[in-house]
Amino acid sequence: MNDTANVPENHAPLNHVESCPDPRHFNFTARVLHWSMALMILAMLFVGIGMVSSLSLRPALISLHQPLGIAILLLVIVRLINRLRHRPPPLPADLPAVQVFAAKASHWLLYALMFAMPLIGWCMLSVGGYPVTMFNGFALPAIAPHNATVYAVFRSAHTWLALLLFATVLMHLAAALFHAWVRRDDVFASMARGYVTNAKTLGEEKEHENSANE
Ligand code: HEM
Repeated sequence: MNDTANVPENHAPLNHVESCPDPRHFNFTARVLHWSMALMILAMLFVGIGMVSSLSLRPALISLHQPLGIAILLLVIVRLINRLRHRPPPLPADLPAVQVFAAKASHWLLYALMFAMPLIGWCMLSVGGYPVTMFNGFALPAIAPHNATVYAVFRSAHTWLALLLFATVLMHLAAALFHAWVRRDDVFASMARGYVTNAKTLGEEKEHENSANE
């Protein structure tokens, strides 16, 4: 059978190596990475704000901000590889095209920001001539040459992209709750617990399993 025959038009995969049938939920790795990174990113946004607004907390928060940010960079690489190798569950077939577009665009924007924020932080400290300290004095190498003008550009980019990330996370959260509480479809459950919840879809799930076993 054609590998793409079961993929609904509104959620054609960007890249995948799995064959049919469509998955009903995100795989375990995707779910663990999603919720752990959600906590880490929210923590980073508040730690960042705390760092620039409190002199007394600044040293402790900076020493948390740098390793946590680099951990996010490493995890997003794993997450992207997992995302490209495992097709996500399809969005509901009756979702309006504009919402499908908004969902896809915001997901890729989140990926872009998860890469950009730590990389810009690392570049910013490198061009500023500051060490990027991980733990026990261990520092990462500089990834760009010292340059005060470029430092100013990266410093400002780090702030503006943090604001964009915060806004995108809030919209993402609002959309997730809209699916869970207003539309009451299985989008939230596919990431929350990995199981479909509503009766209609449970029936479809059973049929789906039967046809997959045939
Ligand atoms: C997902 C990753 C990251 C997020 C969400 C994040 C977020 C933030 C936020 C919200 C601020 C405050 C910005 C402001 O008010 O102007 C900030 C500042 C800062 N961040 Fe990050 N950051 C991340 C990664 C990193 C990394 C990896 C580094 C370094 C290796 C870094 C270094 C810094 C520095 C040095 C400051 C400014 C301190 C200052 O000039 O007072 N950040 N970050």
